Amino acid sequence: MSQTTTKAHQQAGNLWSSRMAFILAAVGSAVGLGNIWKFPYITGENGGGAFVLVYLACIAIVGIPVLIAEVMIGRRGGQSPVASMHSLTQTEGTRKGWRLIGWNGMIASFLVLSFYSVIGGWALSYVGKAASGMFIGADADAIGGAFGGMLASTGDLLLWHSVFMAIVILIVGRGIRSGMEKAINTLMPLLFVLLFIMVGYAMTTGHFGEAVSFMFSPDFSKLTTEGVLTALGHAAFTLSIGIGVMMAYGSYLPQKVNIARTAMSIALMDTGVALLAGLAIFPLVFANGLEPGAGPGLIFVTLPLAFGQMTGGLIFGTLFFALLLVAAITSAISMLEPVVEWLEEHKGISRAKSALVGGLAIWLVGIGTVLSFNAWADFHPLGGIAFFEGKTVFDLLDFLVSNLMMPLGGLAIALFAGWAMKRQGLDDEIGLKGGMYSAFMFVLRYLTPAGIAVVFLYNLL
Ligand code: PHE
Repeated sequence: MSQTTTKAHQQAGNLWSSRMAFILAAVGSAVGLGNIWKFPYITGENGGGAFVLVYLACIAIVGIPVLIAEVMIGRRGGQSPVASMHSLTQTEGTRKGWRLIGWNGMIASFLVLSFYSVIGGWALSYVGKAASGMFIGADADAIGGAFGGMLASTGDLLLWHSVFMAIVILIVGRGIRSGMEKAINTLMPLLFVLLFIMVGYAMTTGHFGEAVSFMFSPDFSKLTTEGVLTALGHAAFTLSIGIGVMMAYGSYLPQKVNIARTAMSIALMDTGVALLAGLAIFPLVFANGLEPGAGPGLIFVTLPLAFGQMTGGLIFGTLFFALLLVAAITSAISMLEPVVEWLEEHKGISRAKSALVGGLAIWLVGIGTVLSFNAWADFHPLGGIAFFEGKTVFDLLDFLVSNLMMPLGGLAIALFAGWAMKRQGLDDEIGLKGGMYSAFMFVLRYLTPAGIAVVFLYNLL
């Protein structure tokens, strides 16, 4: 491979078939466990409306600018994140150190998939649990026990993690058009249909208004500094930015597509899905007199309790977890892409083999996360350091990726695009003119880095 050829995929014609195909793929990546699992529970924990407003501001100030920059870098480099950053440092005449953006991205996406797959496996397992009717009429102890029982069983978690990874490998291994695009074209419409069904169902509970006012009437007395930081961190996670995933997807983006406009549609749809997920979940929680601030167990414990009490709970519970599963799969395939793209280019192995080799390595590392919930629950590798006390392998990986590699990657991407690249590159790729361009550059150069730096330092201290 020649490291200086940019736009390799453009030349080979190996691209998304249309702007819409790219949008669906990117929305598929963005919409994931973050929207359906995490957003509702952090909104619940942080008191609702005011948190949602801050989150929307973070999407605008940090999320959209980094998303535009990352897709732009991807298309301009036209190869895997590692190779794209390598060539761009040459063609843009910048310091070689920026190449770390590519490596940071590939390693982080590798690591994040290793644990994302384990949680995706929970979703898989819950489709079956809900369909079996085990939640019907069950009490809080039984439902909490089912969740705890699943986590305690190494065999169960390993099985679901393996099935989940196998699905991801199969899709990615078939290539951009025949694998990813095909799967996404089926899964994304399904996701939207399921989501609308769930919101419609939530409207029949009689507690929809309560959910709307919980999510949209801001009460700033409930907002803490920590809440603001959570909102910012989540804005990055939910848009899949900072770790090369959007860069990898951008490398297959046809030249004629306007990146700024496309990125805004992606962010809008991702945010829309998160809000709709909240509107699907909170009415059920309120209708059953349950607690919106229940934390990570909100959808695996609180929600099944609600389904177990409601008419139609069997069907809607099953559909809900199917929705979660679909969202997780379309995100997971995007995490494998930077690794596969690199293996294909750099090691010259076929797409299918790259997916298999990369996927198996990730699966293997994922076993560390599986064990973190049972056999290794008391194994705290860095326990000697006060800060890491009590953290399992899974906690450490999550911390490393979500609190270090993603924000640092996002920061570096904003700085590279805002300060290091030549004006020509931005003009060719971004698709903004006049005042819009200046406004965008101002945000990207100053506000975005400042925003990320604040969260990053706070998280660290
Ligand atoms: N955005 C995905 C979600 O919300 C997670 C993700 C992060 C996907 C990073 C790709 C890269 O679940």
